[in-house]
Amino acid sequence: MTTMSMDRIRIRGGHRLSGEIAISGAKNASLPLMAAGLLTEERLVLSRVPVLADTTTMGQLLAQHGIAVERITNDGHTLSLGGAITNTEAPYDIVRKMRASILVLGPLLVRTRQARVSLPGGCAIGTRPVDLHLKGLEQMGAVIELDGGYVNARAPQGLHGATIVFPMPSVGATENLVMAACLADGRTVLANAAREPEITDLCDCLVAMGAQISGIGTDRLTIDGVHALHGAHHEVIADRIETGTYACAAAITGGALHLAGGRMDHLGAVTRTLAEAGVEITETPTGLDVRRMNGLHGVDAITEPYPGFPTDMQAQYMVLMSVAEGASLVTETIFENRFMHVPELNRMGANINVHGKSAIVRGVPYLSGAPVMATDLRASVSLVLAGLAARGETIVNEVYHLDRGFEAVEQKLAACGADIERIPG
Ligand code: UD1
Repeated sequence: MTTMSMDRIRIRGGHRLSGEIAISGAKNASLPLMAAGLLTEERLVLSRVPVLADTTTMGQLLAQHGIAVERITNDGHTLSLGGAITNTEAPYDIVRKMRASILVLGPLLVRTRQARVSLPGGCAIGTRPVDLHLKGLEQMGAVIELDGGYVNARAPQGLHGATIVFPMPSVGATENLVMAACLADGRTVLANAAREPEITDLCDCLVAMGAQISGIGTDRLTIDGVHALHGAHHEVIADRIETGTYACAAAITGGALHLAGGRMDHLGAVTRTLAEAGVEITETPTGLDVRRMNGLHGVDAITEPYPGFPTDMQAQYMVLMSVAEGASLVTETIFENRFMHVPELNRMGANINVHGKSAIVRGVPYLSGAPVMATDLRASVSLVLAGLAARGETIVNEVYHLDRGFEAVEQKLAACGADIERIPG
């Protein structure tokens, strides 16, 4: 296991990448899909689940709720979930490792009428409250108290349908409430819901399990509760953030990559923004071809809910912009503290100034390798990208962030010509 390892990654920059990278299943789709395993005692089989610290953590959480979690293929990518809920508490020790643990709250509550889930607390990218999850469940009949760092939730009469209008789209709250609504009494409408592809993937799986959901893929979901859900087999969508990240890797090294399994329709504003910056992305029957045309140009980007430019691509895009010709303004509107990669990139020779929610990136001719450290997983992979493009050697420390979200990153890049290796710590 690589969880919390002190491994480092050493990169010697300046190699053009070429070849093929197989895109893994989406981490952010897998986590809610695994939580959906709590909605039935029958077997839910999920294929193309990435082997990552976060999916392992979610497996541990489900196991201690009583669910049998098995990896049923040798590659570890197919999971079987099933069994009765025997424990409705999600303890701090697991939740603190991964905020997405809060996704068990809705399913536990609707199945057992009670749940006790540790509050996730802050994280490196901001305060990240869960008030929208809790308010929505209260509208559906839950009684919620906060006590000793835990959410104590009860629904003595069970949950019922409600019309919930989100003040802003939240991926996690939408997922939690969709899952709860599938088994609630009556109709739930979620308005101004998030509509990220991971939510669509969750809804598709829930429908395969017998749920009644309409408006899938839009910002208004209507869910008619049913008495029970049954087992199903579902294949997780390809990871759009991994796809976008390797597209940036091809672009920043002046290379060309085939991203097998990558989907253009899930990239949203990323395709357009990269195209303007000088990166060509074309769809083929097996995935996406990415190559850089000539030079890179500075192009502004602003993070927004899907289909806008994803906050989870902001750090990687900023690295690309740091070696583009001209300046660009990169604005973060989703999280308040998501520029921690900036000082590290500046240590590598980038010229980036942060003013509030925006960063002015003035392109420099080249980056220089340096020892750097990451504080969250997207920042961490952005430093790997910087290392690929930099002159000399880069050591990325605190690699456990990377292991939470990117499967086999050094193997995938090395197979395409990068000089990259893991140094066990
Ligand atoms: C998910 C993704 C994460 C991504 C984020 C935004 C997973 C496991 N994680 O996180 O990688 O960066 O979407 O695309 O899928 N908010 C509230 N109250 C709430 C919930 C959210 O104020 O109860 C705010 C957040 O602070 C943030 C915004 O809403 O400013 C969006 O957060 P949300 O979409 O909920 O992100 P997550 O589901 O946590």
